[in-house]
Amino acid sequence: MGFAMDTLNFLAVAFVVVIGALAALAVVLFVIARLQTHDAIRRNYPVIGRFRHVFSELGEFFRQYFFAMDREELPFNRAQREWVKRAGDGKGNTVAFGSTRNINVVGTPIFVNAAFPPIDNQFAKGTALTIGTGCKTPFHAGSFFNISGMSYGAISKPAVQALSRGAKDAGIWLNTGEGGISPFHLEGGADIVFQIGTAKFGVRDDQGNLDDNKLRAVAAHETVRMFEVKLAQGAKPGKGGILPGAKVTAEIAQIRGLSVGQDGISPNRHREVDNWDDLLNLIAHIREVTGKPVGIKTVVGAEEAIEDLFQTITHRGADAAPDFITIDGGEGGTGAAPMPLIDLVGMSIREALPIVADLRDKAGLKDRVRIVASGKLVNPGDIAWALAAGADFVTTARGFMFSLGCIQALKCNKNTCPTGITTHDPRFQKGLVVEDKWKRVSAYAQNIVKEVETIAHSVGVTEPRALRRKHVRIMQDNGRSVPMDKLYPTP
Ligand SMILES: Cc1cc2nc3c(=O)[nH]c(=O)nc-3n(C[C@H](O)[C@H](O)[C@H](O)COP(=O)(O)O)c2cc1C
Repeated sequence: MGFAMDTLNFLAVAFVVVIGALAALAVVLFVIARLQTHDAIRRNYPVIGRFRHVFSELGEFFRQYFFAMDREELPFNRAQREWVKRAGDGKGNTVAFGSTRNINVVGTPIFVNAAFPPIDNQFAKGTALTIGTGCKTPFHAGSFFNISGMSYGAISKPAVQALSRGAKDAGIWLNTGEGGISPFHLEGGADIVFQIGTAKFGVRDDQGNLDDNKLRAVAAHETVRMFEVKLAQGAKPGKGGILPGAKVTAEIAQIRGLSVGQDGISPNRHREVDNWDDLLNLIAHIREVTGKPVGIKTVVGAEEAIEDLFQTITHRGADAAPDFITIDGGEGGTGAAPMPLIDLVGMSIREALPIVADLRDKAGLKDRVRIVASGKLVNPGDIAWALAAGADFVTTARGFMFSLGCIQALKCNKNTCPTGITTHDPRFQKGLVVEDKWKRVSAYAQNIVKEVETIAHSVGVTEPRALRRKHVRIMQDNGRSVPMDKLYPTP
């Protein structure tokens, strides 16, 4: 009995102490909130005002689980992300009952089914397409779907490792992005596209100029198949890459030639390139030094600029042309970029791709200059649209991030990515198990190819590269769709 009374007394005292401590804490927080000057809501509502910040932070995550409809979120909605997830699982990717897509939205592509599609024994397997036929070492690219540039720095070591191994397994290329080449890019043995950004990380001298010896050393890796000179990427045209200092570890600093913790800022353009002629000179130089195909990556602002490029090529002769042009849409992703550039600068790939393909074909360079397209092309219908519009290859960055487990937390610039993809914090990287994730990367790529083939067969052709503009109709604002070859007649 005495023991029970003692326990009760103890609990009562503990309760009073806890309540007292909480009350004291509330008073302290109340006073702090009233005295601080930078947050008007907390100054006026010292208690409930605090919850506003917490709820806005949490709302960003909870909306995607509880409130957003399947086709509602941006940049990628749940239906798009879930498709990649199921593809990565390597299981069946069928859905039931009917489409949740509103096909009356202006710009929606609708594929034209054939009355008599090919049957199984009429299907063809896509063959490799050669890039840089005139080079010492041309590249025979096996897959029309590949991994777009993401630098080691913007993404983590295990992410690069999983992409490298997955790319090898699926027979696709992996673009290094502008951060130079790391042992992790090479370890899977996949085909590599080495990107030369405006800071020339990995192939620069102390002054930031191109160092031919380093270039030769990179080209000496057999699996480095091509070089891509980056003029711009869709998310930040006219602005160089930004690698926040928090993500510059000792290893990344060494690969890039920076000091630990220093922001990795690339110039807005290649300093030695003032015009298209200069660019063609740079391309010719890199091709000469490396013997491998050299292309460019850019975003289209206006048709005239690309017209000028093809005129310059025509003037100098087809040999001077880049071996490929990667067109990135204004809707493209990034590790970090200013919001006005992400939101408002550069044409969408949906508009830019047919324009560039037509200009290339008009210049008679269809078989000389390959076109690579990117910009939210992550599901089979997007890739089939791009091939029909004129792309020879399609690449994605964020599609492969989803295959690695990205949940679109929008924290790529903060070193706190909860899935370990865009962080160098070992605590978060623990979640990204390379042994599991490379299989998902490979399965995603293989399922894309399989379902683009399904679309190709449905429209009546034997393989994806036979897709043409006449096979796609584009929804207009009057509720009627128009064949893409009427909107963009092939020159
Ligand atoms: C985390 C991240 C890092 C990126 N790093 C680079 C880069 O180093 N160089 C580059 O040209 N583009 C970079 N990009 C852009 C992608 O390569 C791609 O052009 C763009 O995201 C469009 O493709 P997507 O919409 O399929 O992601 C990056 C994108 C992301 C999301």
